[in-house]
Amino acid sequence: MGVEKKILVIPGDGIGQEVTAWGQKVLATIANNYHHTFHFEEGMMGHVAIEATGEPLPDSTLDKARNSDAILFGAIGHAKYDNDPTLKVRPEQGLLKIRKELGLYANLRPIKLFDELLEASSIKPEILRGADILFFRELTGDVYFGEKKRSEDRSSASDLMIYHRYEVERIARKAYEAARTRRSKLCSVDKANVLEASRLWREVVQEIAKEYPDVETEHMFIDNAAMQLIKDPKRFDVVLTGNLFGDILTDEASQIAGSMGMLASASVGDKVGFYEPIHGSAHDIAGKGIANPLASILSVALMLDISFGLKTESQRVIKAVEATLRQGYRTMDIANKHTVNEFIMGTDAMGAKVLENLN
Ligand code: IPM
Ligand code: MG
Repeated sequence: MGVEKKILVIPGDGIGQEVTAWGQKVLATIANNYHHTFHFEEGMMGHVAIEATGEPLPDSTLDKARNSDAILFGAIGHAKYDNDPTLKVRPEQGLLKIRKELGLYANLRPIKLFDELLEASSIKPEILRGADILFFRELTGDVYFGEKKRSEDRSSASDLMIYHRYEVERIARKAYEAARTRRSKLCSVDKANVLEASRLWREVVQEIAKEYPDVETEHMFIDNAAMQLIKDPKRFDVVLTGNLFGDILTDEASQIAGSMGMLASASVGDKVGFYEPIHGSAHDIAGKGIANPLASILSVALMLDISFGLKTESQRVIKAVEATLRQGYRTMDIANKHTVNEFIMGTDAMGAKVLENLN
């Protein structure tokens, strides 16, 4: 029996537009091949929304998001704001607001290297081979959402790092449940030697750990974790961390998967799931047609599995990506010195190869 789902597509800014088109095409192909019905709607968010409506997240997009079964998002951001920190209305506010409004407190970022990309990373292949990490990044708390202040004379500023017990509990439980289905190891990352918010984090994780005696728990400071991740990525299974540390660590971890262009993510929580590549809008290459569409396509694989329970279809998408890489096709970001020139391709050619491999 086929399923019927409403999917909101939010391409956002920069290369978001280019890569999300391919995520959507993959969804349409899966629907067709497996007799599902996916209804697509489009929403605006980010710089494009500011230009059109004055707001980074118009109410119409939020309404559509609440009424959908899953959301496929591209990227957010524009050079204009990066170069002018004084601008009050900023594209990223849209992304943060939608995360908060939809209660997307758990951001899952799987880091797994396709064997074909062993040479694409700047890390040695023997360090990388076999690495398989699942990050649980808390997504609706921390300095991201704590009170922001600027002194009257504007000469000092602060962002409050704040966590509540319930926020740590709910993400910790999700991470422990996932660890049980994997290698039963969980590493919680914090800065409890310095930060009070981290001491609460560690205290709560230690309590939740008692509910999961079958999972081996380890606590690590963020600075050490950043080092261990590159030194020996295979030692990690599930990594549980707060919003800011998770943001930084997962960009670092993208090198374990070859490129930022390969990493997908799922944000889940109260109800609807939100799927996005971890890369940004990459304005330096936007519009050139060279962005890697695989992170968007792999985000679709996560959507099929996590939001719709379509495991076969999800695996089919991952296999199609794998097959495309095995055939030697590469976008610029994952090419290496051995890649034959004629196999280096742009966004559309790469996306088309994946579609071919889906059929
Ligand atoms: C991410 C991004 C966002 C974040 C930005 C665009 C606000 O870097 O999803 O990792 O910091 O969460
Ligand atoms: Mg980030």
